[in-house]
Amino acid sequence: MCGIVGYTGKQNVEKQILDALELLEYRGYDSAGMAIMDDLTGQIQVRKCAGRVSDLRNVWCQNLVSGRCGIGHTRWATHGGVCDENAHPHRVGRITLVHNGIIENYEALKDHFGLADQLVSETDTEVVAALLNHFYTGDPHQALVETVKWLKGTFALVVIFEDIPNVIFAIRNVSPIVAAYHKNGTMLASDVAALGGQADRYLVVPEYHVVELHQDAIQIYDMEDRLCEPEFLEIDWDTTRDGKGQYPFYMEKEIMEQPEVIEKTLSSRLVDGHLSLEADGVPDEVLKACERICVVACGTAMHAGLVAQNMVRSILRMPMDVEYASEFMYMDPVIDEKTLVLAISQSGETIDTLEALKYARRQGAKSIAVINVKGSSIARESDYVMYTAAGPEIAVASTKAYTTQLAALFVLVGRMAVVRGVFDEAAEKTFVNGLVQAPEAMQKVLDRREEIHHIARGLLEAKDAFMIGRGLDYSILLEGALKLKEISYIHTEAYASGELKHGTIALITEKTPVVALVTQERIRDKELSNIREVQSRGASVVLLVKDGIKLNQEDYDHVFMLPAMADGMMPFPASAALQLLAYYVSMDRGLDVDKPRNLAKVVTVE
Ligand code: AGP
Repeated sequence: MCGIVGYTGKQNVEKQILDALELLEYRGYDSAGMAIMDDLTGQIQVRKCAGRVSDLRNVWCQNLVSGRCGIGHTRWATHGGVCDENAHPHRVGRITLVHNGIIENYEALKDHFGLADQLVSETDTEVVAALLNHFYTGDPHQALVETVKWLKGTFALVVIFEDIPNVIFAIRNVSPIVAAYHKNGTMLASDVAALGGQADRYLVVPEYHVVELHQDAIQIYDMEDRLCEPEFLEIDWDTTRDGKGQYPFYMEKEIMEQPEVIEKTLSSRLVDGHLSLEADGVPDEVLKACERICVVACGTAMHAGLVAQNMVRSILRMPMDVEYASEFMYMDPVIDEKTLVLAISQSGETIDTLEALKYARRQGAKSIAVINVKGSSIARESDYVMYTAAGPEIAVASTKAYTTQLAALFVLVGRMAVVRGVFDEAAEKTFVNGLVQAPEAMQKVLDRREEIHHIARGLLEAKDAFMIGRGLDYSILLEGALKLKEISYIHTEAYASGELKHGTIALITEKTPVVALVTQERIRDKELSNIREVQSRGASVVLLVKDGIKLNQEDYDHVFMLPAMADGMMPFPASAALQLLAYYVSMDRGLDVDKPRNLAKVVTVE
């Protein structure tokens, strides 16, 4: 997934684009590039480099160009390594373009049209530039329409033509592009975040439509070149981004914001002490009519679904599947009009989740999206949307988005229990009283973060680590393991502790670091005996345990008491501890906690 920006107007375009690219850098930061129409020479200047947007700024400031129209790109490599040649923009003939997506048939197109000798990079994007140049005979719309007819895959193409000054063209299929009037001009980008709070309305470029950006107008044409009426949406939320404040990394700031944003996520859904989805516009009938639930999500969002699954089974006694969105369409899922699909996504732009949602809806399922970014593609695709109130999450490793997803999902499950007659007044009250303690319980963990920092030092040298627990603890640890993996690069495996003895315990050796989680009263004995199994093979154990569970602390290398909540609510304090553990290991290893290698915040390629 990549970040794309285009601006044309009366302002100096270089700063506009570089600032916007910085706001999009979380979408990909392997390399960056920009192309500007030079007012003096009338030519397009292209400069690009492997590295961050800050490196690109240095490249441009060495030799400033005066221009008011340009395009920019931050790359997450899909085809070809991370190097200057593979960075975007790509130029072939009179065409200069940037691209987000994957062209699945680019090799075949290269051969079919004999383009190889025009190419200098390994990318699918440059093949598109060469193909567009092949079709371009002076009519940009006709060339774009002809080109995309040959493309298989996902694309957001943003193009400038050498002989059409100060106009930007774009066309998309699945990969997102939004456009807006902005600062004495017009702008387009991969998502609203790039507008940096300087636009109050935006439009989503419709798929397979050509959009033209002029300095004072945005025009949209369908594939038959008919002018279409743009449909603008209000930006009724704050898209500006405050900095890291006193924190060294966004991730720490976002971990510390969790009590507040969980509170905000809950507050609009607790009316006079009762659970309510009225503010979300989710009808009770949808919660009553479904016979099973299916989550489609990726990564951390999928882990939130797994935690909710524990609750759906234990409270609602309903069948619930939680599927990797990337697998969903290819596993012949059993989905029908009695299925309620939950699409969980922080960004709302994850293509795997978006395509899985579209597939489920085609099978007749009703859908509720749990989303953090307003107006995102998945939000627009879903029947209903529950927005989390996490605010902009910048660190690639998701933290506050995850726990606010849990908060929203728990309200959803609780409301289902009420409307389906599972909860009476007293049961709902008990559930709500447990849920509203989440912010305070998390704050107690955050207040003791130095204890966790001390524990983290024991993991600094590890190459491998295990996280073990049963039931809900195992679901929580899957997310804990992902956090540690993705920001510290320690190969961490979350394992159902009762399953270890069926093979994987062979990997436990002297001093193998094991993080054990024990929060569920009814299975504590089993979990504690599984911990003894790894200890008897020499493992060093960090135990995260719910306060009040009886044990002999001397038996463990480290013990961190988690504030006691109802068993079902323990994901909140436990997740805070696991997030901090991963954060401190990564920070003390001297790594870029906010931008881990190979990753990006939004995955808009399948
Ligand atoms: C989270 O720490 C990861 N960066 C990643 O797994 C992420 O959760 C996943 O890509 C899904 O993203 P989404 O929530 O924006 O759909």
